[in-house]
Amino acid sequence: MVTFCGGEGCGKTTQIKLLKNYLIEGGHNVILTREPGGSPLAEKIRAMLLDPENSEMNHKTEFLLFLAARSQHIQDTIAPHLEKGYIVLCDRYYDSSYVYQHHARGIVNYEDFRRLNNWAITVDIPEDDSKIMYVPNLTFVLDVDVQVGHKRALARNHHVNDHSEARIDNEHLDFHTKVNEGFRIRATHSNRFSLIDANRTVNEIHESIKKEFDELYKRHREANIDLDNPIIGGDK
Ligand code: TYD
Repeated sequence: MVTFCGGEGCGKTTQIKLLKNYLIEGGHNVILTREPGGSPLAEKIRAMLLDPENSEMNHKTEFLLFLAARSQHIQDTIAPHLEKGYIVLCDRYYDSSYVYQHHARGIVNYEDFRRLNNWAITVDIPEDDSKIMYVPNLTFVLDVDVQVGHKRALARNHHVNDHSEARIDNEHLDFHTKVNEGFRIRATHSNRFSLIDANRTVNEIHESIKKEFDELYKRHREANIDLDNPIIGGDK
């Protein structure tokens, strides 16, 4: 399981598609999915979260809806595909909750983020009374200069005339600076992170991502770690 994260306009959606094509060319079964969303019910929760008309939504509701969408997404899409041997590529995952809801908005303290999120990403297996916690094998953090990222995001929304994602995107530049700082801090929390300089060209970034992925895949093969199973256990 490989996840991509970063602030607005970091280019992760472009990069995740390029990695998907690269992996398919390499003969892997791949599914590309996203958060919030990624399954029919989770996409309905996404629409609620991103609808600018829901301006009365309070911060706790927002956090709980991200967790709800995540839990549903794992059950409906992530877990079944990992079981079938797919490489699951996910555009955003719980590191975005750490950054947006904990670090940038300060609406959930670290202990509550960790406890509630760990609960949301754990699936109980009643057959043998076990649990699986869906922690990614590798997470790319695309680190872009905040001015560049903000311009890219605004240009994209304007270009596609899509205002449905504007509720969060219209926040201040200060907020985006805090978001980018949060991702950099988050990237120090575990060795599953790869911090990528996303101020470069699309191709340069893609080359770095391919290299990181290939190294991880090789390491896991050599160590005979079953990549079809997600890592069991939490991270910091
Ligand atoms: P997305 O559309 O993937 O953003 P982008 O187009 O910038 O990649 O996600 C929508 C927004 O949701 C984005 O601003 C980040 C935010 N978000 C959170 O605040 N918390 C979360 O846990 C997740 C997954 C996303």
